[in-house]
Amino acid sequence: MQISMPRVIDNGRALEVSFDGDAHRFHALWLRDNARDDKTRSPGNGQRLITILDIPAETRIAEAKVSNGTMSLRFEPEGKVVNYDAAWLAANAYDASTTLEPGWTAPEIQRWDSQLHNQVPTGSWPEVSIDRAALGRWLHRVRRYGFAVMTDTPTESGSLCKVAELFGYVRETNYGRWFEVRAEVNPNNLAYTNLGLQAHTDNPYRDPVPTLQILACLENSVDGGDSIVVDGFKVAERLKAENPSGFELLTKHCARFAYEGAKGIRLRSKRPLIELGPDGELIAVRFNNRSAAAFTDTPYNDMEAYYAAYRRFAELIEDPSMEVTFKLKPGELFIVDNTRVLHARKGFSSTGRRWLQGCYADKDGLLSTLAAIEEEGLLS
Ligand code: FE2
Repeated sequence: MQISMPRVIDNGRALEVSFDGDAHRFHALWLRDNARDDKTRSPGNGQRLITILDIPAETRIAEAKVSNGTMSLRFEPEGKVVNYDAAWLAANAYDASTTLEPGWTAPEIQRWDSQLHNQVPTGSWPEVSIDRAALGRWLHRVRRYGFAVMTDTPTESGSLCKVAELFGYVRETNYGRWFEVRAEVNPNNLAYTNLGLQAHTDNPYRDPVPTLQILACLENSVDGGDSIVVDGFKVAERLKAENPSGFELLTKHCARFAYEGAKGIRLRSKRPLIELGPDGELIAVRFNNRSAAAFTDTPYNDMEAYYAAYRRFAELIEDPSMEVTFKLKPGELFIVDNTRVLHARKGFSSTGRRWLQGCYADKDGLLSTLAAIEEEGLLS
């Protein structure tokens, strides 16, 4: 990375500099705040040692020079000289001219439809549990596709928690550390019957929602009961392409969800069906007909169009061209990014046995482990 031609602009309130010939501007306050010297950042843990209030509001760049590939800046009124690493600055440049379309996602995310059917992202427990690089490859698939299968896991009750512990921690809820998914008499949740379940994200009535779900198969001798996954981000993209105003309505107004199916539990949330960040990044989808409460946050004049968009969103979710289907065998499990990928189940016969266990975990832990493995160079 060649850094060259630093030029103080705007009376010292900003700097223009080129990386391999590409010019970028940085503000003086931003540069001062992001100094990497040992008075500003702890060399041990990288944490910032100063606050924004320690930086004078009138901070200016008084001098800028490059020697031996390093740029140094002198800030006034502190009289402080700071050196900058060119690669770090280039990687953190923010002077971009491109505007992002609402619903954009990061390049590491790949949306998919039923064509992924022949390449279901998969790993195997004997490999992933002992080989850190194999674990990294499996986690990478989860980040890219929002789901992955794992084969050859132990078929003991509760062993799905060991999979969560490969990258993080189980998130315990009122359903327990893990929960059983099998047909029951008088179930407190329709998941515990042999009915088919429409594609959904789990527990949208929590805030935050569980960001990962693992469903592990211990027994499956029924006819049917296949698992289905649908990429909610792909569905959102299709909805936006054919009905931009409907897409906007589902992002702009909140839906409500509730779970009140057990004594002492009244879980309620208010969040959009399609959630965008302030810069339009697609953050999450929530969709669950069983736990949708009355929607009361859409103005009267928008409600009809909101419902039309909601219906179309549901139709696209049900469209077979969007789904990937597989039938879990004992010892197999799948993990879903519950902020993105919906899961469903086909109905199954009342003869034979189907016993699944589910648990939740946190995506930030998964992404952290993946980032650490990437930094160790094990995936290159
Ligand atoms: Fe579910």
